Amino acid sequence: MISRVAIGRRFARIATDAAVRHPRLWTIFRPLMRRQFDALAPVWDSMRMEDTFAPYEAALAGLDAEPDRVLDLGTGTGAGAFTLARRFPSARVLGVDLSERMLERARQNTPEDLRDRVDFQRGDASALPFADGAFELAAHANMIPFFDEVARVVSSGGHALFAFSSGAETPIYVSSQRLRQELARRGFTDFAEFQAGRGNALLARKVEQA
Ligand SMILES: C[S@@+](CC[C@H](N)C(=O)[O-])C[C@H]1O[C@@H](n2cnc3c(N)ncnc32)[C@H](O)[C@@H]1O
Repeated sequence: MISRVAIGRRFARIATDAAVRHPRLWTIFRPLMRRQFDALAPVWDSMRMEDTFAPYEAALAGLDAEPDRVLDLGTGTGAGAFTLARRFPSARVLGVDLSERMLERARQNTPEDLRDRVDFQRGDASALPFADGAFELAAHANMIPFFDEVARVVSSGGHALFAFSSGAETPIYVSSQRLRQELARRGFTDFAEFQAGRGNALLARKVEQA
């Protein structure tokens, strides 16, 4: 018999593939995805392994300058947002997620010394309530990319980062080849790929406009 966990992982991959190929289909998957992660919120932190953020960290180390305004899309319980805030001590970090239950955990998890620089907000990465060019870095850890919105909210010369903790075995996974294709079409360049822990990551820079 197939376990509920296996069904959930399969659903996450189907939703990812559909949203990447046909972003308009996302509206069908969105309520199911939110429900899935609301249900996972109480156990999400216990599922994390020691090297879950190794690819994310490796890609962050590839940045040549410290960003001031940083977005962690699909932040879940906030681990990625805290990683960003620790690496960039002057940055303001915003974690965005669909699931209010995940965000409740993220707020509870926020260390005292990061409370003045890290915020969490409910939102959908496919329709972000932010101005064009509002962030110098938009980071994703195990999160479905919505390329049009990433390209819109990242500032000229800013970066987008995509990390997958278990590489192609990650339920929410997009190949580097597909990421490069979609990003290049939207004005990203300087692709850098990273392997760390069990996973991989890709970093890209948005071309500076004259
Ligand atoms: C696999 S979890 C990853 C959480 C966290 N980044 C981590 O690696 O621990 C994916 C997260 O993305 C959120 N998510 C999925 N689609 C989203 C969307 N369109 N906008 C915002 N958050 C989304 C889910 O609610 C979930 O918390």
